[in-house]
Amino acid sequence: RERERETEWGKMFIEKFRVESPNVKCGEQEIESLYSYETTELAYEVRDGAYQWVVKPKTVQYQFKTDTRVPKLGVMLVGWGGNNGSTLTAGVIANREGVSWVTKDKIQQANYFGSLTQASTIRVGSFNGEEIYAPFKSLLPMVNPDDIVFGGWDISIMNLADSMARAKVLDIDLQKQLRPYMESMVPLPGIYDPDFIAANQSSRANNVLKGSKKEQVQQIIKDIREFKEKEKVDKVVVLWTANTERYSDVIVGLNDTVENLMAALDRDEKQISPSTLYALACVMEKVPFINGSPQNTFVPGLIDLAIRRNSLIGGDDFKSGQTKMKSVLVDFLVGAGIKPTSIVSYNHLGNNDGMNLSAPQTFRSKEISKSNVVDDMVSSNGILYEPGEHPDHVIVIKYVPYVGDSKRAMDEYTSEIFMGGKSTIILHNTCEDSLLAAPIILDLVLLAELTTRIQLKAEGESKFHSFHPVASILSYLSKAPLVPPGTPVVNALSKQRAMLENILRACIGLAPENNMILEYK
Ligand SMILES: NC(=O)c1ccc[n+]([C@@H]2O[C@H](COP(=O)([O-])OP(=O)(O)OC[C@H]3O[C@@H](n4cnc5c(N)ncnc54)[C@H](O)[C@@H]3O)[C@@H](O)[C@H]2O)c1
Repeated sequence: RERERETEWGKMFIEKFRVESPNVKCGEQEIESLYSYETTELAYEVRDGAYQWVVKPKTVQYQFKTDTRVPKLGVMLVGWGGNNGSTLTAGVIANREGVSWVTKDKIQQANYFGSLTQASTIRVGSFNGEEIYAPFKSLLPMVNPDDIVFGGWDISIMNLADSMARAKVLDIDLQKQLRPYMESMVPLPGIYDPDFIAANQSSRANNVLKGSKKEQVQQIIKDIREFKEKEKVDKVVVLWTANTERYSDVIVGLNDTVENLMAALDRDEKQISPSTLYALACVMEKVPFINGSPQNTFVPGLIDLAIRRNSLIGGDDFKSGQTKMKSVLVDFLVGAGIKPTSIVSYNHLGNNDGMNLSAPQTFRSKEISKSNVVDDMVSSNGILYEPGEHPDHVIVIKYVPYVGDSKRAMDEYTSEIFMGGKSTIILHNTCEDSLLAAPIILDLVLLAELTTRIQLKAEGESKFHSFHPVASILSYLSKAPLVPPGTPVVNALSKQRAMLENILRACIGLAPENNMILEYK
């Protein structure tokens, strides 16, 4: 039965709803919607004898078609036995089995807190003067995370129960209950190349694929096919949550075009990273591939191949803690007319990710992906900043084994305010890193799967097509969003969330959430 809950402050929560509109057709297997996209165009034109900026509101009719048949989904994680991989697998099993466990505070139930799709809500509309909210996931039919079948690769042979213990993230009473479900889960051998991750990872590499790079790609394709067959899943999504790699050099003639990349693969070129090899296998197999780490897995030749094959790629680097906060705080400051002039971010952590990042080359990948996050906000305000001017932005990461997965993030934001005044804000966050990342991984795979079921067509276009294979729609979840060539990068968290929510609303014929609440004005 539908659950309706009256909350305080004139808000009500409903589990689900249906849309009735002449612009929406709900069939057995698909929802079709006709949607008016209100946008604006600018022109620099002569008016009254002088050049002026002229803004022209414009309406474009779009049609959306969403396949409502929810598949049985398999998720293959690269780095399955890592802290994120084992925590996510454990968390989903705990939810599926309805596990509760005793902590020193209380009896804790499994939940999906931290997941945008599973634990956040959207405003649907008004009813008798009350605001009605519903789960984000009620917008369109999505895979229930409890039903996901997990698999994947790791260069460490450890089974998932032992990996969970090694990670030291989950409460011990919970671990004891989950152990029987996870002991038989053993990662497939992974592609290992010591040149790309820190030397301190070598003692872990006891489950590695042999052969040339081409043979390794072929093996990954075989693994995906066999997993699909064995687990009887309709679709597979692959996600990289393995160690951060160093950047690959982008070299003309090597990885700059599809042809050069494929030829380099044939020549067994050293410069092709393991993550690029997994991604290549997925694109060739038309399996969505998401990169949760900062390195440049998606070299130009690979992006071109994904576009050519219309195979979804998304990334880069989970936006989980410090950067998420930054993309809220700097948006707020710049949006309030305040000028951030110095942002200094320290982290220390003691998990295997921290150990891997203690090498200069892998740290550099993280530094790059953490650094660009304020650029769009800064460049949007020509009152506060001169062209090319940026706040000082420094990132430090230190490895402190004792704190384990419980990462410390300390940030100092200094801004210039009214009349030359200075304002300094300091944040200190302590949090298990993997408990932040696991629900983000879930959202990434659920949304990636959903977007492969959506087709759209703008007026004037003859055929329906899918979203651009470079999935900028996933940018809310990414520190350094990968976007199609020539597309602006949006980092501000509220804009990213609004983009995602409003696109899903368009698929069911609902207007974008504009927050005007004219009903009450
Ligand atoms: N936890 C977060 O909040 C967060 C946020 C953003 C990004 N990340 C990134 O996610 C990644 C995973 O984080 P983690 O804490 O789970 O790290 P982890 O070191 O615990 O896990 C990584 C796993 O990948 C395996 N591995 C390494 N190279 C591999 C390869 N080529 N093929 C298959 N397996 C391989 C390792 O054996 C290890 O088990 C890191 O790159 C980290 O930077 C994490």
